[in-house]
Amino acid sequence: MSEPTGATRRRGPFQVGDQVQLTDPKGRHYTFTLQAGNQFHTHKGAFPHDELIGAPEGTVVRTTGNVPYLALRPLLPDYVLSMPRGAAVIYPKDAGQILAMADIFAGARVVEAGVGSGALSTYLLRAVGDTGLLASYERRQDFADIAKGNVERYFGGPHPAWKLTVGDLQDNLVEADVDRVILDMLAPWECLDVASKALVPGGLICCYVATTTQMSKTVEALRDHGTFTEPQAWETMVRTWHLEGLAVRPDHRMIGHTGFLLTSRRLADGVEPPLRRRRPAKGAYGEEYDNGAPEQSLQERAAARAAAKATGTDAPGAPDLG
Ligand SMILES: C[S@@+](CC[C@H](N)C(=O)[O-])C[C@H]1O[C@@H](n2cnc3c(N)ncnc32)[C@H](O)[C@@H]1O
Repeated sequence: MSEPTGATRRRGPFQVGDQVQLTDPKGRHYTFTLQAGNQFHTHKGAFPHDELIGAPEGTVVRTTGNVPYLALRPLLPDYVLSMPRGAAVIYPKDAGQILAMADIFAGARVVEAGVGSGALSTYLLRAVGDTGLLASYERRQDFADIAKGNVERYFGGPHPAWKLTVGDLQDNLVEADVDRVILDMLAPWECLDVASKALVPGGLICCYVATTTQMSKTVEALRDHGTFTEPQAWETMVRTWHLEGLAVRPDHRMIGHTGFLLTSRRLADGVEPPLRRRRPAKGAYGEEYDNGAPEQSLQERAAARAAAKATGTDAPGAPDLG
């Protein structure tokens, strides 16, 4: 049986073309690609790449200045944080949440936009595997080129499940029967129509947004759409620890904010979204909601919004959060 794409580059002795991550005595990382005959230079001497070719991971090499460097293959979280960037990447803590909470499975058909630097694309490709599909859309050619370079360097060549399209998702999405749609962009609400059309019943949309205003606007747009379940939102905070003798405590610094995650499921066609059972807190929707609007079902809200769009008036009880 053949190995999944990229798997042979994840284990075994170092080979030409592998990514190597060196750690110096101060814990600093340096990443390079192994090439026969090349030298790795530091300010305290050099060593030949050939010393690592054929050696096991976890080897220590010494420079001509006798400084030891630990050599390992970078893990995917290391790789995405050190690779060339166009747009900001999704941090490993959020990528892990997306894989788990958006339930990305081997063989899944996934649509993703935007691609940015390709960090999330790499995680998604590993999860869907060679028999799945990842259809990625990126509006900027320069970012798509960076992402393609990053993804192909990681897998050692093109991935059979990856289809990369340059253009706006809302104007170009062609896939149908999609299991998951993952949006990491400024305005995910602009893509809900095409996402809803592409998703299978029960399919899941996951939006990663950086600000509460984006989160609020996306949530209300999902509710108004009428084809999605009540959205869920959360964020994660990861606190690393200092480990030294009796000084075992949280590190003083942490990444305080990356983004918020939102998920919602696609209803079957023609099904009314169930009524929200809980009444929103008084004032949650502002004064314009005090005429009964909080008790509207998602379907009623969607109908009101559609009628308002058609007549060019504001929908009663449906705020424009833009
Ligand atoms: C924050 S970056 C994505 C980072 C990416 N998830 C990663 O981990 O490397 C957002 C990207 O979305 C792209 N974008 C924004 N709106 C888009 C749209 N409607 N369709 C396609 N791409 C879009 C932007 O050009 C940008 O590259």
